[in-house]
Amino acid sequence: MDPITQLKEDAPSRIAAADTVEELDDLERELIGKNSLISLQRRQLGSLPADERPKIGAMLNEAFQAFKSALDERREVLARADENRLLESERVDPTLPELVLSRGTHHLLTETIEEIVDIFAALGYSVASGPEAETAGYNFDKLNTPVSHPARLESDTIYVDWGDPADEVLLRTQTSPMQIRYMERHDPPVYVIVPGRVYRSDTLDATHSPVFTQIEGLAVDDNLTMADLKGTLHYFMEQFFGKGRQIRMYPHFFPFTEPSAEMAVSCFACDGSGCRVCGQSGWIELLGCGVVDPNVLEAVGYDPNAVSGFAFGVGAERLAMVRHGIHHIRHFFESDLRVLGQFR
Ligand code: DAH
Repeated sequence: MDPITQLKEDAPSRIAAADTVEELDDLERELIGKNSLISLQRRQLGSLPADERPKIGAMLNEAFQAFKSALDERREVLARADENRLLESERVDPTLPELVLSRGTHHLLTETIEEIVDIFAALGYSVASGPEAETAGYNFDKLNTPVSHPARLESDTIYVDWGDPADEVLLRTQTSPMQIRYMERHDPPVYVIVPGRVYRSDTLDATHSPVFTQIEGLAVDDNLTMADLKGTLHYFMEQFFGKGRQIRMYPHFFPFTEPSAEMAVSCFACDGSGCRVCGQSGWIELLGCGVVDPNVLEAVGYDPNAVSGFAFGVGAERLAMVRHGIHHIRHFFESDLRVLGQFR
């Protein structure tokens, strides 16, 4: 068998066996490329006897065309297979279950603190923070609290270093020492809010925890009175619990304010008629406050005849518990996502 006939016989199965474009390119070069047998023989047609030329020429042309169309056809099949492979690899299965991504949020307590701070910041108050391990001087003495005061007993206060009252260190029982620290560093007028953790040797129950969060407020300026305190707290309660709140103040005692008061807000749930949220009283007790005692102003070198001020301290957990109907303070530090997840 002459080599061309041999090629013609083998070509169809070889072309069909080419699995990649590269293999097909090699085959094309071999069958009909510049240096292929067919091309070689075509170039040599001129040297054949004239009567053989047309027959052989036609045979070569026919073989060339046959190879070429078989190669083209195979090329198209391979291209389609490539495309199908790509489509298959990118296939989307709409029946697969959805991927549930859970998104983190701020803790309810963090959100409550931020909300309170924002309300006062909008009134022009600065925000400050201070040490949780505090001296008795700041936590008590400079706040006009005598050495004999019962709050200083170990049954109420957690001491880090106990002994001579002059250098006692304790875990602050209130954020009020920041009133002193802030006034020592700033001249009046002062408008400041201080959120922070405080500690007491309390046993855990539904409303008490040995560690909880207070938000202290302090304003000192020309001529501030109890009326300014009342107006400020009324505004705050409306912002926090909603429009139409009433507030009520009744006498109390704190060593660092004179006069001192506790304050209740009309129940946001029943509007004062009595319900489960307010224990049927129509009022929710929320905070301690008062007019800054002149002794406290003197302790920081302010002139009590030139400036006056008011202060208040409120429990952040208590505010959040009342507003969201949370019945136990432990929910704030147990981090049970079934509880916290209700407040995202
Ligand atoms: N420090 C007080 C407490 O922990 C709360 C308080 C009462 C803060 C009156 C004040 C205030 O600033 O004026 O019970």
